[in-house]
Amino acid sequence: MSEQKRLPRHVAIIMDGNGRWAKAHALKVAQGHRRGTETLRAIIRESSDIGIEALSLYAFSTENWKRSPAEVSALMSLLLEYFTSEIDELDEKNVCIRILGDKDGLPGPQRQALIAAEERTGRNTGLKLNIAINYGARDELLRAVKALAAKAQSGEIAPEAITAADLEDALYTRGLPDVDLLIRTSGEMRLSNFLLYQCAYAEMTFPAVLWPDFSLADYHAALDAFGKRDRRFGGRNE
Ligand code: FPP
Repeated sequence: MSEQKRLPRHVAIIMDGNGRWAKAHALKVAQGHRRGTETLRAIIRESSDIGIEALSLYAFSTENWKRSPAEVSALMSLLLEYFTSEIDELDEKNVCIRILGDKDGLPGPQRQALIAAEERTGRNTGLKLNIAINYGARDELLRAVKALAAKAQSGEIAPEAITAADLEDALYTRGLPDVDLLIRTSGEMRLSNFLLYQCAYAEMTFPAVLWPDFSLADYHAALDAFGKRDRRFGGRNE
């Protein structure tokens, strides 16, 4: 009998390389993002099928607004299209959607579609699918600090009594387990302001493949490699 695989509870993915993929195929960057959305669909489905508890995907950062208006608009259109066309299947698969990031900074139709997706799937008990949109970890931490400071100022909490759990409760990832495995495609080895607090003990892997080419075999290779890592969390495994 094959050995039971040790799966990560929480996988986070930086889906990098759509632009380079488009360039390599002499296509517009929007086409790269469209192909990247196909990969995202396949990885979400697979994660749900194999029983991953939580999957967090970095779709649009607080810094991505610096890109050209055409690229930002293409990404916003894809987001709207995705959340409109996939919501039935995701709900049927019992997927619980959460948006990480500042929805208030998004255009109205996108904001409404994301809120509707969260409300419709909020009580589902399957894969916890977290999509980071208008997200930055420094912004997330700053918001958490401000929320705790406001509680301290109003007397709701004593500053010296603030715990790590209080801080974690003030993050977008409230209630989720820490990230176990972080995957960044395209060979770049950076966190780029993604889940800085939650990745404190994450195992990391940086496959060279561009996101639109990231296959289920590549995903399983990353999961298998995770299963072989020796995790010590600062202690010793004697
Ligand atoms: C990074 O590649 C990718 C992004 C900034 C966007 C990721 C978005 C998607 C995969 C699709 C849209 C999301 C949803 C939820 C429908 P890059 O453009 O920085 O690639 P490059 O480094 O090669 O230029």
